[in-house]
Amino acid sequence: MHAFDPGYARDPYATLVGDYPDEDVYPVGDFRVEWGPIFHRGRLDGSARVLVIGQDPAAHETVARRILVGTAGRRFQGFLGKLGIDTSYVMVNTFLYSVYGQGGGSAHAKDQHIAGYRHRWLDALVGDNTIEAVISLGGLADTAFHTWRDAPGSAPYSGAYQHMVHPTFPDSSIASGSDPVTSWTRLLEDWNAALTALHGVVTPDTARPPVPYDASPAAVAAVVAAKKLPPEDLGTIPEADLPAGLPAWMRSDEPWAKRVGPTPEEKRATVEVTVPEKLRPF
Ligand code: URA
Repeated sequence: MHAFDPGYARDPYATLVGDYPDEDVYPVGDFRVEWGPIFHRGRLDGSARVLVIGQDPAAHETVARRILVGTAGRRFQGFLGKLGIDTSYVMVNTFLYSVYGQGGGSAHAKDQHIAGYRHRWLDALVGDNTIEAVISLGGLADTAFHTWRDAPGSAPYSGAYQHMVHPTFPDSSIASGSDPVTSWTRLLEDWNAALTALHGVVTPDTARPPVPYDASPAAVAAVVAAKKLPPEDLGTIPEADLPAGLPAWMRSDEPWAKRVGPTPEEKRATVEVTVPEKLRPF
């Protein structure tokens, strides 16, 4: 038998996904609304103990229709594994649609209607689960958490809160000219601090010692050279997190989706999907 995510048939999620904000709320100039909203990943059956707020979906998420399944997702899945959290989580993003262009996300960090819909999800999730910790990934998700908590009438929440450096922070900071060693060290040290803070606060699915990330100069040099975390620090997305029938390679550590096109317009309109060479059955 294959496990799969049964989707949004049950309220409050059925109502939420039927009532999503479109381009009237998410401006076409700043968000890739043409690819549709991508709502969540993880448990919607009341069994989540960790609630994760990510940033916005990218190319892999656009195809898999679940969030945090690409590079960022696999890095963060590895973090959850270190905490002993294998299945008892639910993730939503700050934005339903992928941010387009520079600064689009920050400009809309406190947009009332975007936040209003996000608050409905967060209220539903803390009401429907016993959440022991909320984790935000990156600055926009941190703002989303605090905006939610400060909003009058938000559902009660008294569990832990942990803000973490976004999983792809090193890649974007290196791309904008920052030192690779400093960028990766920042992520690894921050995630080790988060591991220490959350271990013992969150009830694990599988009790295991929280093996920290190796942030030694030699280990960071290896990560910088490889431009990725070592395999033992990555997690595989569980089959139960994706819609029925999606092939296993969509959950693998191999990249399989990228935006391509000769012009900005064509690139925005095109996601190229390729079965990873190593994972082809032919
Ligand atoms: N993909 C997501 O869905 N969220 C992120 O924050 C990053 C990548």
